[in-house]
Amino acid sequence: QTIYLADYTPYGFIIDSVALQFDLDPHITRVKSAIAFHPNPEATDPTFLLNGENLKLISAKIDGKPVTPKFTAEGLTCDVPDGPFLWEAEVEIDPTGNTALEGLYMSNGMYCTQCEAEGFRKITYYPDRPDVMAVFTVTINGPHPVLLSNGNPISTDTHSAQWHDPWPKPAYLFALVAGDLVAHPGSFTTKSGRDVALNLYVRPGDEGKCAFGMQALKDSMKWDEEVYGREYDLDLFNIVAVDDFNMGAMENKGLNVFNSSAVLASPATSTDMNFERIEAIIAHEYFHNWTGNRITCRDWFQLCLKEGLTVFRDSQFTSDMRSAPVKRIGDVIDLRARQFPEDQGPLAHPVRPASFQEINNFYTATVYEKGAEVIGMLKSLVGDQAYSDAVDLYFDRHDGQACTIEDWLKVFEDTTSRDLTQFKRWYSQAGTPCLSVTEDWDHGKLTLNFKQHTPPSAATPDPQPQVLPIAVGLIDQDGDEVEPTVVLEMTQAEQSFVFDNLGTRPIASVLRGFSAPVVLTQDLSDADRAHLLAHDTDPFNRWEQGRILARKSLIAMILEGKNPNKDWLQGIRAVIGDEHLDPAYRALMLGLPSQSELARALAEDGHTPDPDIIYAAVETTSDAMAKSYANLVPTLYMRHTVTEAYQPNAAQSGKRALANAALSLLTRTDGGTAAQKQYDAADNMTQQLNALANLIRVGKGSTALQVFEAQWRNDRLVMDKWFGLQVTEADPEDAHEVVETLTKHADFNWKNPNRFRSVLGAFAANHAGFHHASGAGYRLLADWLIKLDPVNPQTTARMCSAFQTWKRYDANRQDMIKTELDRILAQPKLSRDTKEMLTRIRGA
Ligand code: ARG
Ligand code: ZN
Repeated sequence: QTIYLADYTPYGFIIDSVALQFDLDPHITRVKSAIAFHPNPEATDPTFLLNGENLKLISAKIDGKPVTPKFTAEGLTCDVPDGPFLWEAEVEIDPTGNTALEGLYMSNGMYCTQCEAEGFRKITYYPDRPDVMAVFTVTINGPHPVLLSNGNPISTDTHSAQWHDPWPKPAYLFALVAGDLVAHPGSFTTKSGRDVALNLYVRPGDEGKCAFGMQALKDSMKWDEEVYGREYDLDLFNIVAVDDFNMGAMENKGLNVFNSSAVLASPATSTDMNFERIEAIIAHEYFHNWTGNRITCRDWFQLCLKEGLTVFRDSQFTSDMRSAPVKRIGDVIDLRARQFPEDQGPLAHPVRPASFQEINNFYTATVYEKGAEVIGMLKSLVGDQAYSDAVDLYFDRHDGQACTIEDWLKVFEDTTSRDLTQFKRWYSQAGTPCLSVTEDWDHGKLTLNFKQHTPPSAATPDPQPQVLPIAVGLIDQDGDEVEPTVVLEMTQAEQSFVFDNLGTRPIASVLRGFSAPVVLTQDLSDADRAHLLAHDTDPFNRWEQGRILARKSLIAMILEGKNPNKDWLQGIRAVIGDEHLDPAYRALMLGLPSQSELARALAEDGHTPDPDIIYAAVETTSDAMAKSYANLVPTLYMRHTVTEAYQPNAAQSGKRALANAALSLLTRTDGGTAAQKQYDAADNMTQQLNALANLIRVGKGSTALQVFEAQWRNDRLVMDKWFGLQVTEADPEDAHEVVETLTKHADFNWKNPNRFRSVLGAFAANHAGFHHASGAGYRLLADWLIKLDPVNPQTTARMCSAFQTWKRYDANRQDMIKTELDRILAQPKLSRDTKEMLTRIRGA
């Protein structure tokens, strides 16, 4: 059953108050609800409909009198009086049997909830839609030391707690946590003087992994006050870490619930990348308090309203806390790795989809990351001041409301008097625009001729030109910037822009900062690119030119057997040896395009990618780098090996990133000696794990893997790394066997999403291993998806995207993949989640 954006109608009733009582039991939890309704004067459909799923109804009353509701596919309906009335119900649910991890479920003996998007209907009968907002009072009865819900506690006894959340909220922001937990406390005083108690609740044993998350929370609270003028609005803010969680984290009002991997950190157990990700996710969930909770979404089609904006806000935060260019480059790498394949394949959908079957399938890179890019474009078009004015108006005008993208764009139109009709296409059209630029030079006059074209897709068969902010600067032959960045605003399919009064012919640095999420084609010579790599003042484009040269060199090797491009090797060498540059930035310069990115680039040019040849080309190129930089690498490694006590800050982690990039080149020439030394000496996970990866790569990992396992056997998050790394670093030839062995390991608890992803997710990302010519990889993943689907449809459906690029590959592989897609689709009782994903991927 497909749901359409165009069919939106308001709910027939308004809720005056909600009272819930939970009598907790692992198998038979009783939920009593008392909900006061009155008719919504703005509604056209007066049907009283409550959503409900997997609930056992014990009793139902209206105004105290028992009623017999009619059950429907979605929940129930009931005749109701004309005016206000009180609905009271009691239902029974089974938290232990809830392996889908949606609604109220158990994780390691603790109770927790996940209600976004439509999980509240698995807790009780309720109008489970984001435009129905209400004030909740919650009573929890159960024999647990910690009993938590949203808002402020109004009473706590030994086995009972009562909570009241004064802010009206949709049901998807409801949360309940109960268990034997310990709190890591903190506090924050808001700029207007409100004292907020902060707690990070964890299982006993994890207390030592809380300090960093707590600091990140305080930093986020401060940042949102300073940059967006947003203050926290309750006396209490709680975060809970749970081991079994489908996603990263959830912004429930006053009670954020986190996947433990997204909040728990310590130097011994977490890498620099883990720390940075945790800081960003804590910020993200905290920022939702305004962009998501105080102002929420009218319906789930508007998901990007809160997610695109909140991702944009968390990337601004990370840019301020750490290095802005490094963050930007990382975001673009991620966008190309996850969003581009989605936007260019069978799962393509607009940032605001027009229809869906299962909303959980639309928590995508397009909604989140492209959604954030769209906000970034809006900001660069209107300018920083206008952006800030418009956002202030958004908070003023819409506080307490459930809004749409139209509301969001209107505050920009009202503050800037711009017409955003065409810009709105970014929300309604799927597909990545292709932008090409050619140049004319005529006596001091440079003309840039742009053309844009978005390939049609099932979601958008007839794409129209987008508004593209194209940031451009000009660099002359001496390496000086003769024209600082200007943002050109392209609105037509073809459009030219002129730069006049130039002396000699400069080189155009186009799409600085990746100012629009497009695929750019620019007819620059390799020499011009090398010049920009050496001299561009825009750090993103400097990196980008190196990346393009690397890609061209790799593709020439793949298609024509050419040797690595010498100018590129030289150009990168100059940058990585430049001690004036940030080590983190230099580490990025040593990166190569991923194998799947190369496959995409080849397919884009009409070639059929061969995963084995791509793998070999990347290996050969890495060896060539190791050889060519052989006399620089040991110095790079030594100079950036951190000897002070471990700090997860940007400065130290940048040094470690460069040292570890150097180590992987060094390992290619020293056979693992330095890596073994680093492994033995490591006192932090970044050093330990990088050393281990290098040892595995040269076939010398077996002892270290055993030592590692013995050391970390009891730490679930570290063991996820142990599982994952063996798959990531596996030789493609036997990757599927490595996976099979690991899935037989006693600690391979496949019902835990983190563990499942650490093996099967890593496998799908081992490009040549997964695409093994025998088809063994496809079969293996399909077997596991079939096994997981009845247990956890959400995580299964997400992982189906491993197959989304299947049309790129040769007929043989396509046939084998199709066989697997059909085999999964033929399973009786396949979940709606997985069925929708596979049907879209497979196509007609
Ligand atoms: N709103 C959460 C976040 O962005 C994600 C929750 C998604 N949950 C889901 N079941 N789809 O942090
Ligand atoms: Zn979010």
